[in-house]
Amino acid sequence: MADTDYAQGDYRVVAERLRPATLDLVAWCDPQSGSIVLDSASGTGNVALACAGRGCRAVALDLEIALLRTLPPPAAGGVPTVVGDVMALPLASDAVDHVLSTFGMVYAPDPARVMSEATRVCRPGGFVALSSWAEDGFQPRARALLARTEAAAGEYVPEIPPAWTSIESLRRTLSPAGDVEVRRGRLENRFPSAAAWWELASTSAPPVVAARSRLTRSAYVELGERLQALVDECSEHGDGELILREEYLLARVRVR
Ligand SMILES: C[S@@+](CC[C@H](N)C(=O)[O-])C[C@H]1O[C@@H](n2cnc3c(N)ncnc32)[C@H](O)[C@@H]1O
Repeated sequence: MADTDYAQGDYRVVAERLRPATLDLVAWCDPQSGSIVLDSASGTGNVALACAGRGCRAVALDLEIALLRTLPPPAAGGVPTVVGDVMALPLASDAVDHVLSTFGMVYAPDPARVMSEATRVCRPGGFVALSSWAEDGFQPRARALLARTEAAAGEYVPEIPPAWTSIESLRRTLSPAGDVEVRRGRLENRFPSAAAWWELASTSAPPVVAARSRLTRSAYVELGERLQALVDECSEHGDGELILREEYLLARVRVR
């Protein structure tokens, strides 16, 4: 099975910063106690754990076994885990009540396959719902910088396909499954400075940590300078801190 860069660094640190946006999707879809929820491309299980906390029967699925292993077992407050690819889900048709994915299945290269698999395993009447980064926001711009730098070194870094990064394209991508709703959200994270953001990213954020092992030292230093400039540009600057604003999109479809 293919792997991603997500076993590198310490994704738990990033997941903690993402949590408010992941809880936004869970609250919006409001899965009921007892319902079966697939957290698709779960990483360390932000969504699955939140759903389990609401009494749902949640399952976390990801390609990276190292991330799934950070979850406690069900008997200790965790959830069952499955290693799998969102483009070929190892689940029966109509196996779950809802499929939720925060900043996860959007990184797979084939949006049509992702949607056809998500709607196959979701029973009619349930939600397939996801969050993605808005095309004009910080994350896609940072990823594009990373991808350009790595491409110059002959490496490939997946970016989110355009099918998931605007309100219009999300409507198009999800609409074969049913009636689509899309809304915006904004994640705000505080850092003492752009340099402090870089310190966190270069030690914890998997795609950045992976880049360090693949780039020359000077290319990596230049990448860091460019990313810090982008952080400054996308932040509000206050008293001894900056607030990094990251625009995201939430989309859901009730499967016909
Ligand atoms: C940015 S993380 C998001 C993790 C989690 N959903 C969260 O909100 O914290 C992206 C995740 O997608 C997973 N991923 C990427 N491509 C995948 C695929 N084709 N199938 C399953 N998981 C995948 C990565 O391993 C990683 O855990």
